[in-house]
Amino acid sequence: MSDTLFKTEFGQFDLRPSNFHPKSPLRAWNAADELLLNHLKQHCPVEFPRILVVNDACGALAVSLHHYEPESWGDYYTGTQSLQLNLQRNQIESDRVDVLSSIDSLSGTYDVVLLQLPKTLSLLAFQLAHLRQHVRSDTLIVAGGMVKHMTPSMSELFEQYIGPVQASLAEKKARLLFCQLDETLEPEFPEATVYGVPDSPLQLVSHANVFSQQKLDIGTRFLLEHFPDTAKASRIVDLGCGNGALGLFAGWRNPAAELYFIDDSFLAVHSAEVSFLNNPLQNAAHFMPGDALDGFGDEVDLILCNPPFHEGNKVHTQIALKMFSGASRCLRNDGQFWVVGNRHLGYHLSLKRYFRHIDVAAGNSKFVVWACREPLRDR
Ligand SMILES: C[S@@+](CC[C@H](N)C(=O)[O-])C[C@H]1O[C@@H](n2cnc3c(N)ncnc32)[C@H](O)[C@@H]1O
Repeated sequence: MSDTLFKTEFGQFDLRPSNFHPKSPLRAWNAADELLLNHLKQHCPVEFPRILVVNDACGALAVSLHHYEPESWGDYYTGTQSLQLNLQRNQIESDRVDVLSSIDSLSGTYDVVLLQLPKTLSLLAFQLAHLRQHVRSDTLIVAGGMVKHMTPSMSELFEQYIGPVQASLAEKKARLLFCQLDETLEPEFPEATVYGVPDSPLQLVSHANVFSQQKLDIGTRFLLEHFPDTAKASRIVDLGCGNGALGLFAGWRNPAAELYFIDDSFLAVHSAEVSFLNNPLQNAAHFMPGDALDGFGDEVDLILCNPPFHEGNKVHTQIALKMFSGASRCLRNDGQFWVVGNRHLGYHLSLKRYFRHIDVAAGNSKFVVWACREPLRDR
C-alpha cells in the first residue's frame, strides 16, 4: 500500500505520485526530499528567502515550502501536473508556486536553491549552467539524491559550473551535496548536438536530457528503415518524440501531413521544434508537452512510437501501456499505430488488449516493429 502522508518540518501534506494507484508502493517523495527540507529548516539564510526548487518530481518540495511562494523549475510535464494536483489536494492555491519549465528563463537571484539530482548528467549540466547566472556566493545551494543513483560525475559538474562541493554523510540511503558559487569560474554553456538521419536530408538537434542525444538510437533507426506508407495519412503523431526523428521523417515523406510531436520532456519537445524549423519541411506541425495522449482530442491516421523502456522498471512499462491505450483511443478506425521495441519486451502481448490486428512489419534478432490496426475501444 502506498504511503501518502508526507510529514515535514514545514507541515504534513497528502501527496500522490502521477498516475497514482492505491496498491502501488510508489510514493510522491523520497528520503532526499526529507533531508533537503530538514537542512533548509536548520540553515535557512534569511527570514523570507526567495527559493527555487529544481526537479521536484511530484511537488513534495514546492508543496511543503508553499508559504515561501517558491519557484519550481523542471523538465517534465508530468512533474508540473503532479505538483498542481498535489497543491489542490492540500487546498493550497495554485499561484503559491510559480511553475517554470526547463525552457523558461529564470530571473533575478535566489537565496535558496534545492535541487533533486536528475537522472541525466546532460540535464544537470544544463541546469547548473543556467543556475550560475541566478545565484550569489551566499546562496544556499543544496542538491539531494538517493545514494544508489549518485555518481562522482555529478559533483564534478557542480564544481565545473558553480563551485566547490561538499557531500553529507548518507542518511536513509540519501545524501546531500552542498555547493557554493565560485565567481571566478567561466564555464562554457553545454551545446546542443546535431546529427543526420540516414537516407534523408534531415538533421536532428538534441538539447540536454533528450533521448539518444549523441546519436540515433538503433531501435529508432530500425523503424526508420521499415517505415509505414505515409502517403494517405493526413494527421501523424510522433508519440514520445524525443528530438522528433520519427515525426520529421514522416513529414519529409509526406509534406501534406499535419504533424503532432508529444513528449513528457519540455527539452525534447523544444528539440523537436528546433529540429523541424532547421529542416526544409512544409508540414503544419504542433509541439506539445504531454503525458502520453492524455487530453489529446483529435482523431489521427498514424501514430509512430518508440516507447520509453527500462528493464525491470515498472514505471516505464506503465507508460508504454498508457501510450498503447491512448493510441487506440485517438486512432481513426482505419488508422495505424506503429511501435518499435526490443524483442524481449514482448509488446505484442500488451498491444493485443488495444488492437484487433497486430502484424510484425519487421523484425531482427533485437527489435520488432509492430503495425497495429483496428483499435478496440470497448474494453
Ligand atoms: C525511447 S525514447 C524515443 C524518443 C524518440 N521517439 C526516438 O525514437 O528517438 C521515449 C521517449 O518517450 C518520452 N516519454 C517518457 N514518458 C512519457 C510520457 N508519459 N508521455 C510522453 N512521452 C514520454 C521520453 O521523454 C522519450 O523521449
